[in-house]
Amino acid sequence: MKLTVVGAGAVGASCAEYIAIKDFAAEVVILDIKEGFAEGKAMDLMQTASLNGFDTKIVGSTNDYSKTAGSEVAVITSGIPRKPGMTREELIGINAGIVKTVTENLVKHSPDVIIIVVSNPMDTMTYLAHKASGLPKNRIIGMGGALDSARFKYRIAEALDCPSSDVDGMVIGGHSDVGMVPLIDKAVRNSVAVSEFLSEDRMQQIVEDTKVGGATLTGLLGTSAWYAPGAAVSELVKAIGLDSKKMFPCSAMLDGEYGLNDICIGVPCILGANGIEKIVEIDLSDAEKAKMIESASGVSKTNGLLDV
Ligand code: LAC
Repeated sequence: MKLTVVGAGAVGASCAEYIAIKDFAAEVVILDIKEGFAEGKAMDLMQTASLNGFDTKIVGSTNDYSKTAGSEVAVITSGIPRKPGMTREELIGINAGIVKTVTENLVKHSPDVIIIVVSNPMDTMTYLAHKASGLPKNRIIGMGGALDSARFKYRIAEALDCPSSDVDGMVIGGHSDVGMVPLIDKAVRNSVAVSEFLSEDRMQQIVEDTKVGGATLTGLLGTSAWYAPGAAVSELVKAIGLDSKKMFPCSAMLDGEYGLNDICIGVPCILGANGIEKIVEIDLSDAEKAKMIESASGVSKTNGLLDV
């Protein structure tokens, strides 16, 4: 498969690196507006090929979208990242214009592309990509839930003092500090509910730590995180590229699912060659449903700031 990563910053570069290392894609085009930057990242990454043992060809481009033509998947990481103390929602003013232009350029050169949106505020930028692209709803995917779920599993594993591979769990809802809905009552260690091992207080602590997972890293790093975001994107791209039908929580355009309409928000999705093959409606408890509705109302409020 050929894919494009727009934005050669930390998230974009990490995403291209993980995709290359997983060695399932024929070509990755990295595109950036900063002269020579994407070319430099591409060359540096290509010089790891013999060391890391991959055959993926990585090409850099300074804003020349003709190089992206025929991409099956495009990842949008462009825009500014948040600084310590900022919410993702505060980025909308600058990032909306960028995401709209990038989306239009991508679709012009790859009319059948599947777009994965990473730029923040992610759910609203995914909604904007829908409006700007005119693509069918299965072809626009917001990356947030896969990352938030990875952070959730990290926190559960930390509390249980066990490897993350022992743990399963999912975060749905909006990709924001207040809007995330970590499904702690459904989380398991192997097939055993985590509530068998952890107190209610400890479980609530995991939920709170997960919700501010990105903010905690921004405080430590001085900018947004990149390894886990890049790895999460690479898993979504791989599921599409290999048509694997794996389930990830992704921001998807809803049309009645979970009682919501005309909104992109994190819900479990089956990913395959067609992008979102299916939105899975799971049974939520009354408390989980209430959190989902509250989360959706936050996302709608941010969508209201868009000029679409
Ligand atoms: C984060 C950014 C990618 O959560 O939103 O790290």
